[in-house]
Amino acid sequence: MEISFLLNGERARVTAEPTRTLLDWLREEQGLKGTKEGCNEGDCGACTVMVTDEAGPRAMNACILFLPQLEGKAVRTVEGVAAPDGSLSPVQQAMVDHHGSQCGFCTPGFIMSMTAAHLVGARDHDDVLAGNLCRCTGYAPIIRAAEAVADAPAPDWLHDTPLETVPQSLDAFAAWYEQNPDATLVAGATDVGLWVTKQLRDLPKVAFLNRLTELQQIELSDHEIRIGAGVTMTRLLPVLRQYHPSYAEMVRRYASHQVRNAATIGGNVANGSPIGDNPPALIALGATLHLRQGAQRRQMPIEDFFIAYGKQDRRGGEFVEAITIPTKAPALRVYKLSKRFDQDISAVCAAFNVTVEDGVVSEARIAFGGMAATPKRASHVEGALIGKAWADAAQAAALLAQDYQPLTDMRASAAYRLQAAEGLFLRYIDDINGKPAHVLEVSA
Ligand SMILES: Cc1cc2nc3c(=O)[nH]c(=O)nc-3n(C[C@H](O)[C@H](O)[C@H](O)COP(=O)(O)OP(=O)(O)OC[C@H]3O[C@@H](n4cnc5c(N)ncnc54)[C@H](O)[C@@H]3O)c2cc1C
Ligand code: FES
Ligand code: FES
Repeated sequence: MEISFLLNGERARVTAEPTRTLLDWLREEQGLKGTKEGCNEGDCGACTVMVTDEAGPRAMNACILFLPQLEGKAVRTVEGVAAPDGSLSPVQQAMVDHHGSQCGFCTPGFIMSMTAAHLVGARDHDDVLAGNLCRCTGYAPIIRAAEAVADAPAPDWLHDTPLETVPQSLDAFAAWYEQNPDATLVAGATDVGLWVTKQLRDLPKVAFLNRLTELQQIELSDHEIRIGAGVTMTRLLPVLRQYHPSYAEMVRRYASHQVRNAATIGGNVANGSPIGDNPPALIALGATLHLRQGAQRRQMPIEDFFIAYGKQDRRGGEFVEAITIPTKAPALRVYKLSKRFDQDISAVCAAFNVTVEDGVVSEARIAFGGMAATPKRASHVEGALIGKAWADAAQAAALLAQDYQPLTDMRASAAYRLQAAEGLFLRYIDDINGKPAHVLEVSA
């Protein structure tokens, strides 16, 4: 496969296997070993590079980025951030000045995350760096360096202009995929990348969705938001902040900047994972899933898509085209429970959306991830709430044990999950009653 992109300002033309990762190519074929390999699964940020396209620069993990995903884009590695005269960039200098590096293994990744943030003026440093792990320096000097550089002018030599590319036609793709249902679709590759780097799977036929711009649209109307399957979590976040702030707060804790910059909502739904974070929120919102096979389209309530573990209602050659959600859901709350606050997969993810009229529950949509083989509604709890006084809602918590028989795994025991689910339900009641919990502060 032939791919063209800019590498540190120079045009690169590459012929490579479709599942060759950027990290391997940089280190093994370009001799650019500043980009490090730590986990090789998107968790540590040692391999962070900066990728610029028409939406601007952003940090991404090179270890789970396949070369065809870069078509037409501009890539900067740590070797490409110093000034043309060889002097350090403002971010590099700040890291030196503030003693932000000890063994230095993580440092190139931090430099690239901080460089991308500096170029776009991001100042939420804790959030920007949540996907970069450092084992020896400690984060305080690194954050001090990021703060120190925030007001410095962004270096003009780092403003890359991506190459011109022609968007691919969604109709043509739909027709091709109908004829080639055995192909593996690759959107952000934050799941598929690991099949290659960790499971060492060969993927004989792959189709990359990144140039299908029709899949990347967010359309707003009075009542509805239509989110194309190819919309990344990063692009979704500001829309959610405006319409569904609690859902947005969960997405802010979804993986890391680097992963959110790649991961798409379509991939998160299509993979059918019982611990995917979007499905509970989408189910609680009453979202509609739009599927397409060739020229044929069908739609369904999103919860109907998840049939059983690893089994979704998706036909051969059919793909997720979009998801629609309502613009209004003032009672929606989404709670993510994970061992680590940032950059961790949920042990339990809960979404509640209960409508109360004159003190009585008129509608209830409650869904959990991590509690069953699929993302699943709490139908016993919902049934017990509807038509009853909201003041008595807490009594329904006991019915969660009828809705869910969770598993014990490395993230949590079954008993913990059930108890935590009850706790989250009680938290929701408090939240709606005007007593929101502060998850980062414990008070008596
Ligand atoms: C470090 C790390 C942290 C993570 N943290 C979280 C987290 O906090 N919460 C969470 O929920 N997930 C998390 N994930 C998992 C992953 O990011 C998500 O599942 C992601 O949304 C997948 O989207 P993608 O675009 O990367 O999908 P891909 O990896 O490209 O694809 C995933 C699957 O969906 C299929 N697919 C993709 N697009 C379509 C489509 N339009 N139609 C049909 N099939 C399609 C692919 O063929 C594949 O089977 C994490 C992953 C990593 C590596
Ligand atoms: S090597 Fe750890 S995120 Fe890529
Ligand atoms: S400086 Fe050693 S891991 Fe960060």
